[in-house]
Amino acid sequence: MYKLPSLEAVKDLKAIAILTSGGDAPGMNPAIRGVVRSALNHGIRVYGINRGYSGLIIGDIWEMNSRSVSNIVQRGGTLLKSDRCEAFKDPAVRHQAAEILREHEIDGLVVIGGDGSLTGASLLAEESGIPVVGLPGTIDNDIHGTDDTIGFDTAINTALEAIDRIRDTALSHERLFLVEVMGRNSGFIATQVGIACGAEMVVIPEVEFKLEALCFQLANNRVKGEGSSGIIVVAEGPRPGLTYRLAQQLEEHEQTPRVCILGHIQRGGSPTSHDRVLASCMGATAVDYLRAGYTSIMVGVQNGQILDVPLREVLERKKQLAPEWIQMTALLHK
Ligand code: ADP
Ligand code: F6P
Repeated sequence: MYKLPSLEAVKDLKAIAILTSGGDAPGMNPAIRGVVRSALNHGIRVYGINRGYSGLIIGDIWEMNSRSVSNIVQRGGTLLKSDRCEAFKDPAVRHQAAEILREHEIDGLVVIGGDGSLTGASLLAEESGIPVVGLPGTIDNDIHGTDDTIGFDTAINTALEAIDRIRDTALSHERLFLVEVMGRNSGFIATQVGIACGAEMVVIPEVEFKLEALCFQLANNRVKGEGSSGIIVVAEGPRPGLTYRLAQQLEEHEQTPRVCILGHIQRGGSPTSHDRVLASCMGATAVDYLRAGYTSIMVGVQNGQILDVPLREVLERKKQLAPEWIQMTALLHK
């Protein structure tokens, strides 16, 4: 159970709006539900904005009711759809977006998305004065100021389930598999999945990859009679497909690895109970923060406490993968 903040309402909000932006993440739906149900129970009207900032700038807005969010708590993806909107990086376009919110008499906006979406949220709040609260919605868990993000737990469990299946073939055929997981430029998914699936090695952007060390370890396992089966979890890095290059390098060292890119399989599917509860709590608390007069903040979780983190602080700093976690993956190898 999370510890929730105790907040005093100082603002009489008439209407708020909500959008999801950037890569979708399992748990966005329970977060939307949390915002909608909490707001309606406080007598606040709620508008859903379709397709993130792309929908906002053209006024694709609709009024939601309690039934709009029925039966979505268990569904992956996002009811409101998501998009990437280059135009929103233009201040003039953000000015237009603020005008649309004012036309609908919206006095608070909740943005669910990753660091790009939260950057847009922060700029919109600063430039327009419209209160904005962000929720960390990304499978990558790479957002500073929060221990956890909506979708991370589901993504790692989905990847784990797939790798457990791959392990069966790896063992039966004594094969080496390179499994590529998502995570953009961070190794949070790869590290956690690597530990949970008992990977022989984890390749992440935070640590320089040494081909010789891997080849030595594989040869060593063979000498010890442990066969050549194994799973190496690779973080995709800036572009998916990095793993094919790695496989090629290994082939030059007499290895014949198979490559499996999990890709978007990790972004879909029913959210785990962990993500449903986290997202519901964060969604409902976002409304409490708006009622308490907060703006330009992200709802985060630290040591089990749901709290507010200034968006400026969230965006100024990069979340680091703790060195202890990196050491842990090495410690658990054969
Ligand atoms: P995520 O939110 O998952 O990190 P992106 O980085 O693709 O995904 O960002 C999602 C959207 O957020 C972008 O398409 C854009 O609309 C908005 N955004 C990203 N960066 C900025 C920025 N510097 N200024 C304004 N809006 C931005
Ligand atoms: O940020 C979430 C994420 O799934 C990353 O892990 C991945 O690198 C990226 O989005 C892929 O984005 P898309 O395929 O939607 O362009």
